[in-house]
Amino acid sequence: MDYIARLLLPPQESTFAHEVDALFHFVNITSLIYFAIKYRRRSDEDTTPLITHNNTLEVTWTVIPLILIMIVFAWGFSSYNTLRAVPDDAYEVYVRAYSFNWEFTYPNGVRSTNDLYVPANKPVKLIMQSSDVIHSFFVPDFRIKQDVVPNRYTQQWFQTKGPGSHIIFCTEYCGVGHSDMMGMVYALDEEEFNAWLEEEASKDIDSMPLAEVGQLVWRSEGCMGCHSVDGATGIGPTFQGLWMRERNFIDGTTGVADEGYIRESILQPGAKVNVGYQNIMPTYSGILSDRQIEGVIEYIKELSE
Ligand code: CUA
Repeated sequence: MDYIARLLLPPQESTFAHEVDALFHFVNITSLIYFAIKYRRRSDEDTTPLITHNNTLEVTWTVIPLILIMIVFAWGFSSYNTLRAVPDDAYEVYVRAYSFNWEFTYPNGVRSTNDLYVPANKPVKLIMQSSDVIHSFFVPDFRIKQDVVPNRYTQQWFQTKGPGSHIIFCTEYCGVGHSDMMGMVYALDEEEFNAWLEEEASKDIDSMPLAEVGQLVWRSEGCMGCHSVDGATGIGPTFQGLWMRERNFIDGTTGVADEGYIRESILQPGAKVNVGYQNIMPTYSGILSDRQIEGVIEYIKELSE
């Protein structure tokens, strides 16, 4: 049974995954048994009999499904309560979804993009909202799925069964980058988790080499969702080999990827759109400082050496 369950579903990696699965299998198996008996072929000349009225039959097919439905309802309601009632001591993380990334903010102010770090074996509460359209936060291993909506906080909690990494999907169609809107949950031992938080908090962009500032911006400000750094094609052009490359724009003009072009593309992404891409990048005007923009320029240079 356990073996078959594992063939059908992802591993049970949260404390209540087994509960969700048990109900799922109950519904599946009872339906399967019922239909196998009810609609089996009885003989080669099997025809449907003409029945106009049968009290016994009608009571039976009302009462038995009612009992089954009540079992499923009570079971589902109890699991739903577990999923909704957040433990008081839960570790809280703010989640911001935007096309096409997940941004996580921890209580000490540290942020991470697409990688969610959590303490293992501890309840974690996610307080989620979207900056644009509706997204949906889905971790198959945890059996959790929750819509992430603009102008409203939605909540979800989970507790892992130990350290490990688990994939996050966006499961509400949100635009061209929907299928790329993925992330990872890293559940770390308490000590390791605290060390990670401390290390992230100590990162000071004022004393970092510019190219490293650029890499940090790429990783934490959402560039990575669309721009690869290894030459892979994405929603936007790859950063690898971009420096000083000839650009052909959709309005028929051409240019070269120098400092001015990169800066303009960050602050006014719609000004020059390269052939083969859509004008969908949001502006970073007012979001990135000059130092961060220069960091990105230097990072792109470094990736092209
Ligand atoms: Cu975000 Cu689909």
